[in-house]
Amino acid sequence: MKVQFTETVLRDANQSLMATRMPFSDFEPILETLNKAGYYSLECWGGATFDSCLRYLDEDPWERLRKIKAKCPDTRLQMLLRGQNLLGYKHYPDDVVRMFVKKSIENGIDVIRIFDALNDTRNIRVAVDETIKNGAVASGAISYTTSPVHTLKKYVELVREMKEMGCSTICIKDMAGVMTPIEAKELVSAIKDAMPEMPVILHTHCTTGMAYMTALKAVEAGCDIIDTATSCFSGGTSQPATETLHDALTGLGYETGLDRTVLKKVNDHFKPLRDGYLSAGLLKPKALVTDTDALTYKVPGGMLSNMIANLEDMHALGKMEEALIEIPRVREDMGYPPLVTPLSQMVGNQAVTNVLVGERYKNISKEIKAYIKGEYGKAPGEINADLQKRVLGDDEPITCRFADTLEDGFEKGKAEIGEKAKSDEDVLSYIAFPQQAEAFFEKREEKAKNTFKYSIKRID
Ligand code: CO
Repeated sequence: MKVQFTETVLRDANQSLMATRMPFSDFEPILETLNKAGYYSLECWGGATFDSCLRYLDEDPWERLRKIKAKCPDTRLQMLLRGQNLLGYKHYPDDVVRMFVKKSIENGIDVIRIFDALNDTRNIRVAVDETIKNGAVASGAISYTTSPVHTLKKYVELVREMKEMGCSTICIKDMAGVMTPIEAKELVSAIKDAMPEMPVILHTHCTTGMAYMTALKAVEAGCDIIDTATSCFSGGTSQPATETLHDALTGLGYETGLDRTVLKKVNDHFKPLRDGYLSAGLLKPKALVTDTDALTYKVPGGMLSNMIANLEDMHALGKMEEALIEIPRVREDMGYPPLVTPLSQMVGNQAVTNVLVGERYKNISKEIKAYIKGEYGKAPGEINADLQKRVLGDDEPITCRFADTLEDGFEKGKAEIGEKAKSDEDVLSYIAFPQQAEAFFEKREEKAKNTFKYSIKRID
């Protein structure tokens, strides 16, 4: 029996526990060790890392990737990609998506995990196609949620579609950490029954305390790869611990391919860093504890704290209970979207508005209107017909893929940023995060000038 591991400390653990603020210099000394651990892959890029590099860390995300690759030549480097949204929330034209995927692979990525918040496969098709064309592994990810329309049969159909697209692995992505052990067992078994050859990956979070049990049941049901984080960066809103699951599964007779001595070295490197981030306030102790509210209210933890903050701002915290009752109703009206960013915020805000205004849908946010129009993709279930009529009037919803309504964007972005971009990678940074990238380019230019001045002085 075999099970492999994807280490998330550089991406999801970093993102979930400390808003992706870990600078390259902090993990650079351990990269060669990470390369020897025997992971299936090292998740190190994509998600929020890109934005964080430009916005907060003054790092070129592409250069970060190349530097990781140089020190980890034997380990698959993995990134998370939000399909047609790339690393953000808006839809990009196909030429931009293709260029982004191509350049990610050229700069060192081996595995791209691709998902769509609504599980609308039209929104991942182009990214999957380009990944395969460039010789990397396309991993299709299911945004996991429960609802009357999210049946095992539907999930298996989704996997089949991803397989037909060319995805060579499937990831069950439980972003809220709400998947229970029995749900994992049933879903993994259903996929394996239908497609025994398809490698299945489990991605979950410890938020509600389910993760270790869920991972164990998934592995017992035939799950091939699990996402974990080195122990000092595990737990809470992060993944379960690599060493713990390695020891537990090895004890049960599974081969992990991991080198336990190397795993300890990895953890020894990150431990003092974790303590430093805690005392600097970058890592909040609250992120490290178990919080079962997501199970009680069936909404992700991040969405709850967002709602509490909104209600507090409006001095209406007393309406919280009412808003929590309103959430499932709004979600039903929307056709049961998975409550993942940005849909979690959209549904949460609309529920709060409905409760505060005292009349349902008297005010409808522009994001919810766009969703109802079909700009985010196809809703998993039926959108409430009255609501749809109220938003659309006599207009028809968009039934085509939203990106089909967009014009090519790469050359346009290139012209816009002009000389400030020194490469195609720079142009992509600019297209993905215009203000942050432009500010970064300016700072980089300034730094280069100063270094130049300094080196001339040195020669004198
Ligand atoms: Co995650």
